[in-house]
Amino acid sequence: MAVNKIKKIVAISSSPSKGRNSDSMLDNFILGINNSGKDDVTVEKFYLEDVHFDHYQYENRFGPTENEPDFAVLADKMKEADGIVIATPTYNFSVPARLKNLIDRIRFIALDLDKKNILGQPSGKFKKHRMFFIVSGGSPNYIQKILFFLFPIFWLRTVFMYYGSFKINSFYSGDVKTFQSKLILEKCFKKGEKFIKKIL
Ligand SMILES: Cc1cc2nc3c(=O)[nH]c(=O)nc-3n(C[C@H](O)[C@H](O)[C@H](O)COP(=O)(O)O)c2cc1C
Repeated sequence: MAVNKIKKIVAISSSPSKGRNSDSMLDNFILGINNSGKDDVTVEKFYLEDVHFDHYQYENRFGPTENEPDFAVLADKMKEADGIVIATPTYNFSVPARLKNLIDRIRFIALDLDKKNILGQPSGKFKKHRMFFIVSGGSPNYIQKILFFLFPIFWLRTVFMYYGSFKINSFYSGDVKTFQSKLILEKCFKKGEKFIKKIL
C-alpha cells in the first residue's frame, strides 16, 4: 500500500499585535488548510515575538547559536516544510524588523553559497517550498495595487525568489479593522483551502 508523505506547513505570525489584523487573517487561512480534512497535513504556527534570535552577524552566519534553541527549531521546520505562510503588517513600506531579521538569518538554509545562479548570485535552496504572504496595511487595497512596490508583498516575493521559491501567492487587506471583517476572514479561509489543494 502506498504511504502518503506528510505535507508540512509552517505558519509565521510576525505582527507584535496578537489577535489583530494579519494574525486573524493567518488563523483563518490555517482553518482553511485544516478544512482539507486530510490527515497527512500538519500545520504549525509560530509567533515570531515568542522566538528568540539575535540579529544577523558574521559569527552566526552558519546557523543558530546555542542561545537560540527556539530559532533552531523554527529554522529546521522552515527548511523541511512543503509550504510556508508568512503573515505580516506593513510597517513603513516594509515588514516589522523581527521578520526582516528572520529572513536575514535563514540564509544558511535558503542559499547555497558554493553554487552560483546565472546572475552570479548564490543559488536558492527553497525550490520545493510553496509560499504564501498575508499582508495587512493601513492603505486601501487600490493604493496597494497601484503602488505595489511600496508594500511588503513585492519585497517578500523578490527575496523568496532569490531564495529559490517560484510558487508564490499572496493576499493584502487594507482594512484596519480586518480582524472584525467576516468577509475578509472568509476570503483568507478560502485562500487557505486553495493553498493546501495546490500542495496536495
Ligand atoms: C510603525 C507602523 C508603521 C506603519 N506603516 C505603514 C505603511 O507604511 N503603510 C501602510 O499601509 N500601513 C502602515 N501601517 C499600518 C499597519 O500596517 C496596519 O494598521 C495593519 O493593519 C496592522 O496590522 P496588524 O494588526 O496585523 O499588526 C503602519 C503601522 C505602524 C504601527
